[in-house]
Amino acid sequence: MKFQPFLLLSTVGAVSGQLDKLAKEAGLLYFGTAVDNPSLNNQNYLRVARDPAEFGSLTPANGQKWSNTQPSQGRFTYGSGDAIANIARQAGQQLRCHTLVWYNQLPGWVSSVYNRDQMQRIITAHIQNVAGHYKGRCYAWDVVNEAMEDDGRYRNNPMYRAMGVDYITHSFKIAQQTDPDAKLYYNDFNIERCCNAKINATIAMIRTIKAAGAPIHGIGMQGHSRVGMSPSKREMKETMARFSELVDEVAFTEVDIRHTKAANRRRRKRATRARLHGSCRGLFGDAKYSWIPQQYPGEGEACLWDRNYNKKPAYHSIVGLLQSAASAGLRASATQAPVAAAATVAARSAAVAAAN
Ligand SMILES: *[C@@H]1O[C@H](CO)[C@@H](O)[C@H](O)[C@H]1NC(C)=O
Repeated sequence: MKFQPFLLLSTVGAVSGQLDKLAKEAGLLYFGTAVDNPSLNNQNYLRVARDPAEFGSLTPANGQKWSNTQPSQGRFTYGSGDAIANIARQAGQQLRCHTLVWYNQLPGWVSSVYNRDQMQRIITAHIQNVAGHYKGRCYAWDVVNEAMEDDGRYRNNPMYRAMGVDYITHSFKIAQQTDPDAKLYYNDFNIERCCNAKINATIAMIRTIKAAGAPIHGIGMQGHSRVGMSPSKREMKETMARFSELVDEVAFTEVDIRHTKAANRRRRKRATRARLHGSCRGLFGDAKYSWIPQQYPGEGEACLWDRNYNKKPAYHSIVGLLQSAASAGLRASATQAPVAAAATVAARSAAVAAAN
């Protein structure tokens, strides 16, 4: 990237860092982002990402996934996850941990296991080691990620094939035994728009988890969206209300709103506003480190900063919405409604990028 002193100044100057600060003033828990390891040598990017007034929470985009933490059986590697966790610690940011059990970025030695007991032992060892390594450092863990299909069936992944739905309840139980203070989340996409088959099945699954005596504290809505296709404010509110009956916290965990450069500003603002209703969310990332351009060529404008670290109109829309939420006294109502603010863009990013 070309060195641009003016942009650099604007990043560290008077207009720097305010999303997390405003989110908290509006009664939310945090406004966060995901950071991936290849970005760690980019000082311009890091200046934004580790500004705690901008982002109160960091998520390792890939470093804590199974393929990074236990690439071969019994060999645990934490370098990638630790690099992000250490940045968060140094900057005084909270750590949101992602993810323990997911069918993607899963090493072949796991996906080739069909025996129930063997799979159960593998999951136990994985969670005990990984959640044990980060014990006390994770505000929350995405314990299980993307276990449902859009049509409401359980995703037929290697863990499900070996153990049925028990793999989910087992994972939550082991996660709680290992790190009793972490908020344990189920995280998925396409569960923002009330009330599709996937949301209904997710609710049934959460009930199954609870009925089995396993702890679950939060539901993460990934919030991948597209300008013109975003769920309405009413739909999101309804979904969050349904989820809030089951768990303590609901968070938008990976928000991005993709669109082409040509999409006009008005539509962009409308999509942002739709997402920023009442309770929570946020987003972040410059296009450079988003997963969107690999998956959806030409629609890489999903984040709040452009690739030269200029804040986009959507950034300023969010600031305005958070400011008015704060002055409208949302604090009180947000505390009553058990809704956590989150916003991590691109946590799924390299997942998808790597898969391509
Ligand atoms: C999901 O559940 C809601 C509320 O019970 C219901 O109105 C809706 O029709 C269901 N959707 C599907 C696709 O089954």
